[in-house]
Amino acid sequence: MAAPDVVWKGGRFGSTSRPDRWWISPSLVFLGFGAFIVYATWAAFQNGYYTYGPYISPFYSPEIFGSSPHALLGGKPHWFPSFLPFSPALFILWIPGGFRLTCYYYRGAYYKAFWADPPACAVGEPRKVYLGERSFPLILQNFHRNFLRLSYLVWAFLVYDAVRAFFFPDGFGIGVGTIVLVINVVLLAGYIFGCHAFRHLVGGSLRQISDYPARQKLYECVSCLNGQHKKWAWASLFWVGFSDIYVRLCSMGIWHDWRLL
Ligand code: FES
Repeated sequence: MAAPDVVWKGGRFGSTSRPDRWWISPSLVFLGFGAFIVYATWAAFQNGYYTYGPYISPFYSPEIFGSSPHALLGGKPHWFPSFLPFSPALFILWIPGGFRLTCYYYRGAYYKAFWADPPACAVGEPRKVYLGERSFPLILQNFHRNFLRLSYLVWAFLVYDAVRAFFFPDGFGIGVGTIVLVINVVLLAGYIFGCHAFRHLVGGSLRQISDYPARQKLYECVSCLNGQHKKWAWASLFWVGFSDIYVRLCSMGIWHDWRLL
């Protein structure tokens, strides 16, 4: 039998007896997440300035089709519709985008920040009925576990890019960009390996996890990352955007990539 809809019996929209400044957190989420979405969308459609030497922007990796030396399958495919704007980022960004959009932490954050459902705990909502995530479109949030598997694949390519960033045309070296791309994969690892769905995969589905010592250990490691999931989420979001900016500005000749080794 389907669970009945929950009816909010509180006061009008925004009413609360909370004495703290509860609106600060959703406002910051709105500004931070909104700024990232605007920048990432703009960057994805540029189709230029996304590589510099051995570096490639994480927004464009893996570059399946494209004009740079990083492209896996060559240039723009002949079957690509001519009326659509072409960019290598459009083949790949839907995976990390979908992963973050369906992330359990981000859901809680942007439901509050973007459509006030609720604006914060114990604060009056603009609507009276809570429908949950049982109907379209929010039922699509269940695809998070599928995005998780695809995201590990993308992350593996980003690790490859970080390793490749040590190999310049004149041989092995370390540039500031190398460090930027290495930090990027470390922060992304902290985020995606602390995923709630991954924790379920490694041990959450077991009836008695202590019967599986290796999986219990892994479960504890994931739980450790999961405890700071919000921090990993924001740090990795900021850094992946900064990595794109770094490669882009070096490629445009605005920033100089210092070689440390
Ligand atoms: S719950 Fe946040 S990445 Fe899976």
